Amino acid sequence: MMKSLFAAVFCLLSLPLSAAPFAGASAAAGKAIHDKQCVSCHAAKFGGDGSKIYTRAERRMKSAQQLAQQITTCNANLGNKLFPEDERNIGAHLNQQFYKFK
Ligand code: HEC
Repeated sequence: MMKSLFAAVFCLLSLPLSAAPFAGASAAAGKAIHDKQCVSCHAAKFGGDGSKIYTRAERRMKSAQQLAQQITTCNANLGNKLFPEDERNIGAHLNQQFYKFK
């Protein structure tokens, strides 16, 4: 009984393509930080409002987990100014607006 419960919980935690990293995070708070901290550099490199980086055909993100990782990498570009909570909120925003990972 205990054993199968553990197995079930483990399964839930290891679902490979779920948007779980951003569960319960605030997309609205994430958008505000993203617009302030992230857009200018992407726009400088990709033109327009910078959103092409997320919508281009060869975009690199293939899962919510990968997206969470990339946000951490780009946060390092900013000198790690953001808290993990901010990163999760930004992830919720980008996923809702652009990536739509389940
Ligand atoms: C100093 C410049 C810079 C800053 C600041 C920056 N980024 Fe990036 N970001 C990049 C570059 C360059 C790439 C493209 C890397 C590539 O083409 O592989 C990128 C790629 C990405 C991608 C992947 C796009 C895709 O699907 O291919 C995401 C997501 C992302 N950035 C999120 C963020 C977030 C969130 C922030 C703010 C916390 C941020 N970035 C701040 C330079 C930056």
